[in-house]
Amino acid sequence: MNKAYIFVFGSTSTIALSIFLFVLVPRMQITEVNSESISAQTPYTDAELRGRHVYIENGCIYCHSQQVRDPVAGADKQFGWGRPSLPSDYIYDKPHLLGTMRTGPDLSNIGSRQPSRDWHHLHLYNPRSLVSWSIMPGFSFLYDISISKESPKEGAIRVPGAEDQWLVPHEEAEDLVSYLKSLKRDREPMKASEAIK
Ligand code: HEC
Repeated sequence: MNKAYIFVFGSTSTIALSIFLFVLVPRMQITEVNSESISAQTPYTDAELRGRHVYIENGCIYCHSQQVRDPVAGADKQFGWGRPSLPSDYIYDKPHLLGTMRTGPDLSNIGSRQPSRDWHHLHLYNPRSLVSWSIMPGFSFLYDISISKESPKEGAIRVPGAEDQWLVPHEEAEDLVSYLKSLKRDREPMKASEAIK
């Protein structure tokens, strides 16, 4: 092999370039983010954790992401989805539910954007009753409909436009809405030095 040096040079530089791009650059980026700021998240309550499980079971992740991109990488800021996500926003998440598909809007901060419990229940029961063009499936199996003049149960929601119909959420629906309302990753991050104190 009289051209062995080309082979040696080629393979060495390919490995060196890969190490630089896929090991060193991400490491520098992550170190930079971590040392800047830490998100002020609070742990999930038991109900929120159960709701998270309902979110997983029902495949919400197939249409909804939970990661807001930096303005250089997309228009998430213009959509009003909050500040770009930080690694520490997910400190209590196991498994992570970042998602990749955005058939529906990002839900990182849905708890801040839509704090109404009743809105969430009516929307989950039948999305098109509130958003006429929605292609989100209804999760009506998480609810009962009760017909009566008075509220049949504490927490029942009157169905708009139908005076005597009430939506009665199952426990799983209540937990799911608690989880959605807890998603507030738009809290101002703390400086790392303050968070460690
Ligand atoms: C087939 C795709 C699909 C699935 C599965 C799906 N969604 Fe959606 N979702 C959408 C679309 C599209 C919208 C936007 C229209 C609307 O508001 O209904 C939406 C809107 C929402 C909104 C309102 C967001 C906002 O910014 O106003 C919430 C909350 C939500 N979905 C929660 C859920 C939950 C919880 C589940 C699982 C139980 C779920 N979605 C499953 C497609 C989906």
